Amino acid sequence: MFDPMALRERLRRADPDYYTLEVCDRLAGQLDRIESLKRERNAVLLAHNYQRPEVFEIADFTGDSLGLSLEAAMVREAETIVFCGVHFMAETAKVVNPQRRVLLPNLRAGCSLADTAEETRLYERIEELRRDLGDLAVVCYINTTAAVKALCDACCTSANAVAVVRALPQQNVLFLPDRNLARHVANQLPEKNVIAWEGYCYVHQEIDPETIAGIRQTYPDLKVLAHPECRDDVVRLADAALSTSGMVEYARKSPDRQFLAVTECGLSDLLAIEVPDKQFLRACRICRFMKMITLDDIIRSLECLQPEIALPAYVREGAGRSLRRMFELTTPDRMPEALYGVSLN
Ligand code: 13P
Ligand code: SF4
Repeated sequence: MFDPMALRERLRRADPDYYTLEVCDRLAGQLDRIESLKRERNAVLLAHNYQRPEVFEIADFTGDSLGLSLEAAMVREAETIVFCGVHFMAETAKVVNPQRRVLLPNLRAGCSLADTAEETRLYERIEELRRDLGDLAVVCYINTTAAVKALCDACCTSANAVAVVRALPQQNVLFLPDRNLARHVANQLPEKNVIAWEGYCYVHQEIDPETIAGIRQTYPDLKVLAHPECRDDVVRLADAALSTSGMVEYARKSPDRQFLAVTECGLSDLLAIEVPDKQFLRACRICRFMKMITLDDIIRSLECLQPEIALPAYVREGAGRSLRRMFELTTPDRMPEALYGVSLN
């Protein structure tokens, strides 16, 4: 049973004005209902680091895109994965664990960055570049649909993008859909010709260097951690460019006391709750897609076992191939079992 007082003690670290005792009393009732539905349905709940604080409370695992894919792949006993994140992440869970039912509690939780790469336009661009350059690899960020992943040679996440591109034999690399992450990769690998797709994440694009510099001036001992989806002039001001879980690990292990996580606000919430002995300043923005999933959506989803993620076999195979390549190039020992079965042609 969730205790409203204890819940308030934790969640108020993220937002003391919103998480009143009255709100926490209501949330505790919803969380109890989810806990019992999870048992009834034999389900596990995976949550991305940008979810609402109350979703973290009920999650069996919270992590970044890479961590969530690995965790989804390892689900054996449970029949159902409730994926609290955005659509492309739930699709990835289905690709790495096709035997499990994958639920996305709110189907409107998409990703505007993933939507910038559309299959037909990508297909034409690949044809054009292959004609002009010959030697070309196509690398997609995990923030793409499964159908787009199926057109690419290798997938990557913010945690391993540099390692994937470095390990590819081709010199020319079309990188999609995030131009900021593409530039981050290009800066680390001057020996490669990285051709960026012109997409960006509206959340990270809104964060400006003036704000970061202003906060740093007031807090000279501050450690600034930026997501590589941020603009170049923002990443340059950071002490480290990291995936969301990379930031959590850095903040936990570092002897420093004050941090600024330059990314979506859910991560600042998570850090405030999980690392209470350190100070986290804020220069974050909210992703409207990540915040679409509410506890009521999760309850409905577990009651009806809907909305379920389904992928045509050829898309699952194709996306599986590009995910398999990612693991082969970076961490072959962590390759999800389901990916051994995908055809490499
Ligand atoms: P991470 O894989 O670093 O968690 O990032 C996912 C994302 O959508 C960032 O906007
Ligand atoms: Fe997509 Fe940006 Fe939201 Fe991440 S933060 S899910 S990239 S819109």
